[in-house]
Amino acid sequence: MTQVKAAVFASGTGSNFQAIMEAGDLGCEIVLLVCDNPDATVIDKAKYHDIPVFVFQPTNYESKEAYEQVIIKYLIEANVSWIFLAGYMRIVGSTLLKAYKGKVINIHPSLLPQFPGKDGIEQALEAGVTKTGVTVHYIDAGIDTGPIIAQETVEVLPQDSITTLKKRIQKAEHELYPSVIKQLLKK
Ligand code: GRF
Repeated sequence: MTQVKAAVFASGTGSNFQAIMEAGDLGCEIVLLVCDNPDATVIDKAKYHDIPVFVFQPTNYESKEAYEQVIIKYLIEANVSWIFLAGYMRIVGSTLLKAYKGKVINIHPSLLPQFPGKDGIEQALEAGVTKTGVTVHYIDAGIDTGPIIAQETVEVLPQDSITTLKKRIQKAEHELYPSVIKQLLKK
């Protein structure tokens, strides 16, 4: 039986990419990392796992549509049918969304719809909530607005700093994301 193939999109450290790579049988094979930042350490993680990387600089293209067309070419060549965003710091445009309708998911460090956008962890601390968490959701045209697939609550402790809260959020992310992928691909 041929394995379903998937790509991870990331821009930074890649701890979620690593968690996905090390989660064991996901029901799919990760065949490509797409990265918009040539200096991102996630690229080293992909090399370590022998995963091909398409790295691009958005400023080298005249529009989002132009670079998304190139991304789609790479995805098609690699037979990718699912896209997992893991710290991809760009809004996915309509070109990619149309090509991969219902097949793009994201992980976000808050209990959406609370604290969308950048700095979900900082926003939770500033708001003084006692509970925050992580969300895996489908991508739509908005910022962190697509249908929610799964959430995990993380307690905010009175003494929490960004560093300590981030550590617990990431632990939850690294468990939730691979387990959601497994569930989705079973269907
Ligand atoms: C994660 O907190 C994820 O929820 C958010 O971006 C961060 C990426 O972290 N979308 P990493 O690069 O996977 O370590």
